[in-house]
Amino acid sequence: MSSIPKLECRSLWKIFGQASDKVCQQNHDNNDAITKAAIDHGCIIGASDVNFSVAPGELFVIMGLSGSGKSTVLRSIAQLHRPSIGQVFLDGEDLAAMSEKDLMEIRRRKMGMVFQNFGLVPHFTALENIAFPLKMRGENAATRRQKAEEMLQLVGLEGRGQSYPHELSGGQQQRVGIARSLAVDPEVWLLDEPFSALDPLIRRQLQDELLALQSTLKKSIVFITHDFAEAVKLADRIAIMRDGKIIQQGSASDLLLHPVDDYVRAFVEDVPRLQVLTLANIMTPKTNIKAASKALTLDQSTSLEKAMLAMAGGVKNIIVTDQGKPVGEVKHSDIFNAVQIAET
Ligand SMILES: Nc1ncnc2c1ncn2[C@@H]1O[C@H](COP(=O)(O)OP(=O)(O)OP(=O)(O)O)[C@@H](O)[C@H]1O
Ligand SMILES: [Mg+2]
Repeated sequence: MSSIPKLECRSLWKIFGQASDKVCQQNHDNNDAITKAAIDHGCIIGASDVNFSVAPGELFVIMGLSGSGKSTVLRSIAQLHRPSIGQVFLDGEDLAAMSEKDLMEIRRRKMGMVFQNFGLVPHFTALENIAFPLKMRGENAATRRQKAEEMLQLVGLEGRGQSYPHELSGGQQQRVGIARSLAVDPEVWLLDEPFSALDPLIRRQLQDELLALQSTLKKSIVFITHDFAEAVKLADRIAIMRDGKIIQQGSASDLLLHPVDDYVRAFVEDVPRLQVLTLANIMTPKTNIKAASKALTLDQSTSLEKAMLAMAGGVKNIIVTDQGKPVGEVKHSDIFNAVQIAET
């Protein structure tokens, strides 16, 4: 992945309330002072000094309890809320400083958003909903229709283009929302709990479809969810929010092995550790390994669960490889220790 971020939030604050301008102007450089002034003036802090970046093609997940500021951050990225303080860079350009006219253009060409509550137009058919952003950016009717049909097929709804939202199930409406956001072929894709209204079976199916889509489309994605198992399945990196702040960000295994506090620990509690942790997380790095003839060799991305199964025949050591080259060793006991540490 390129080291130049596609998207970056820098010191992003969103303060709701009539006195928010006053609060921000007076206390710009000191987080504690901003927070205190916001509370004193009866404002609500939606996002508080949020910093993160998303690399091209990366899927970044934001998690946190209800009211922790996830949607506020997403809406601030899209500039549907103008940030009170801070910058949102897309390809190095600060959206927070951009005019509404220029932003309109960015939303039409570079950014797609799926809203928490679907946000479909009720008196438009599925196809009309999907084609709507194309109409907004001035595409002709034939192009709109062709692209909308293509997107409908992509999300598995071919044949349902003439249905109105109320004639579709929740999952189908969500697919229309996803198709609509993809119709403009956005480079940055913002998804606010897109699967939370769905039953577990459809949810799993859509997660798999998202991963399949992402493997070819390679969008830069910010994805909000409440479900850590979903985050683990989809994310390259995960950020955990509380009270408008990002408390911790890192890979799923970072959060699992090194939670910064009990709040993060509570989020990762129920996740199947053996499935999430990999040999890379627990190996002792070594390069000059003499391969014993009976040694078991596994790639560093192998989950501990698969490694344990592979060791079932009484194997004591694993030689860990990266693209076929030895990079470390794992002992049978290391696996048990890793699971135990994560449990405590
Ligand atoms: N337009 C608004 N005016 C005032 N306060 C707002 C506004 N939008 C959000 N808030 C407040 O900002 C805080 C963060 O809300 P936000 O919607 O970002 O939470 P969330 O993490 O997305 O929650 P959920 O998981 O329930 O969707 C909440 O206290 C909320 O009440
Ligand atoms: Mg929300």
